[in-house]
Amino acid sequence: MMGDGVIRTFWVATLATGFLALSLGAAVSKDGDAEKGETVYLKRCLQCHGEEGDGLGPAAERLNPPPRDFTLGLYKIKSSAFDADLPNDEDLLRMVRDGMPGTAMPGWGDMLSEQDMWDVIAYIKIFAELEGKPEKQVAYGTRIESSPESIAAGKKLFLADDRCSECHGAEGRGDAIKKLKNDNGERTWPRNLTKSWTYRASNDPKDIYTRISAGIPTTQMPSFADPKSNKKLSIEERWHVANYVASLAKTEKVVRPENTVIKAVRVENKLPASPDDPAWDQASPTTFFMLSQIVGKVRFFKAANDTISVRALYNGDKIGIRLEWDDRTKSIPGDSKAESIAEDELMEDAVAVQFPIKIPTGMEKPYFLMGDAAKPVTLWRWSSGTTEVPESAAILDAKGIDNLESRDAATGLTAKGSYRDGTWRAIMTRPLRTETADKELQFEEGRFIPIAFFAWDGSNGEVDTRHAMTTWYWLLLTPSTGAKPIIFAIVAALLIGGVLLWWGRSAAVRSGSAAS
Ligand code: HEC
Ligand code: HEC
Repeated sequence: MMGDGVIRTFWVATLATGFLALSLGAAVSKDGDAEKGETVYLKRCLQCHGEEGDGLGPAAERLNPPPRDFTLGLYKIKSSAFDADLPNDEDLLRMVRDGMPGTAMPGWGDMLSEQDMWDVIAYIKIFAELEGKPEKQVAYGTRIESSPESIAAGKKLFLADDRCSECHGAEGRGDAIKKLKNDNGERTWPRNLTKSWTYRASNDPKDIYTRISAGIPTTQMPSFADPKSNKKLSIEERWHVANYVASLAKTEKVVRPENTVIKAVRVENKLPASPDDPAWDQASPTTFFMLSQIVGKVRFFKAANDTISVRALYNGDKIGIRLEWDDRTKSIPGDSKAESIAEDELMEDAVAVQFPIKIPTGMEKPYFLMGDAAKPVTLWRWSSGTTEVPESAAILDAKGIDNLESRDAATGLTAKGSYRDGTWRAIMTRPLRTETADKELQFEEGRFIPIAFFAWDGSNGEVDTRHAMTTWYWLLLTPSTGAKPIIFAIVAALLIGGVLLWWGRSAAVRSGSAAS
């Protein structure tokens, strides 16, 4: 028989081991376990980064930028010095945890434990036999806080000798006329620095400082801390440039998901005839995300344009819509400069606005990708023109993505574009009412009118079904009468009803397809 003492000792020992195991389990080891990391890798990373870590996973060919080739051992977002090849492990953890905005690289922080992430990092380092720590780090000196003086000094340095504008353009929109390739020979684009949501790291001045100090390995983004660079910057100067670049972030034309309605403003005089007329400022812009067209039979994954901002004005006769989107290249086929940087064959830049043929009474809208036979749509399209043909406007009757017919006479539609420093502005104007009411929308005040957008970047080989697009949003001609509050209440009720209906239906479809 075991005595009490023995039993007690047994329990104490068991508990102690248990606690030890528990506490070991909770501690995170930055020296990840590569064997465990392999399991994580095969499950979560292989599909893009490939079994061999060479960035050639099954999903890779659709991705722009392509997944990192880990066999090179080079990383873009690092805080070690420009002349140290190795990144810091914390740099890798950050990218794995938070993901890389503007690319397909997801953040894993919600799905993997910190230990899983350290383990998988240990595993991916094996592909290039990376060992040890970087010899040198980026030097930060004393951070200079942002101020109007610092921003002004930074702007000067940004433009001096075309230091940054050489690639990023005079306004930072990534529109400089230059063809850039990464070390693997794949096409890369300089960042549009005004789109803070596309930064791989962030646009906090400290992150920008780190990028201009360390450069972005594998790409043509150089280090400006390199004493051999003839455009090098001192620590102080780098802080000024970082403060300037951070100040470029768009604050007005950014996507606010709650803004789904473009409010057209009524004006008493003529609608502005130029895209650059300040009269457009009477209406505030609404900005939407655009995605690649990946729902049609032939899918396209690499659309270049990612947002579009819209304003609308109307008077007693006409409605005018101004579209604004950043496009790095003014694509005019025949133009030798534009031809030289085009990705595939150079096509025209173009944009289109889509309307149903009638304002829906219920909430049933046509299919958002150019309608179908039962519910056709109308597209107003503006094209940039070529060196031989001027810009043009067209009305297309559409019954699906590959069933478009251009109308002979563009019933009263006029369009005009203007390009400056990486931004297109195009306006389209049409009478509120036309004689062919059976064929196209007749505008009415106070009604929620479905509206959607398409854009083609001609230097990215975008034409026909290769384009960026939005889903349906709403256009509202804000009534000028006292009836406003009532109409709003009715419409709001309709909208809520409609959303519920749609939700119910798509839930039914979802469960239906899951069952089949
Ligand atoms: C859906 C595709 C996809 C998946 C899945 C994916 N990645 Fe990536 N990853 C990318 C792309 C694309 C890039 C390149 C982004 C760029 O070059 O800006 C990238 C880049 C990276 C980088 C480079 C960071 C740097 O600073 O250069 C690391 C590290 C990385 N991925 C780790 C992982 C790990 C670990 C997993 C799995 C847990 C994973 N990725 C899963 C697409 C993916
Ligand atoms: C020779 C061309 C070139 C020059 C000159 C250049 N850049 Fe870049 N820059 C690039 C490219 C290409 C990228 C995108 C790299 C990638 O694919 O991730 C980039 C990306 C960036 C980013 C994005 C960082 C992130 O987190 O996504 C910042 C910020 C930036 N550059 C700032 C600057 C500043 C400031 C200067 C001048 C001091 C400058 N660049 C000069 C080519 C250049």
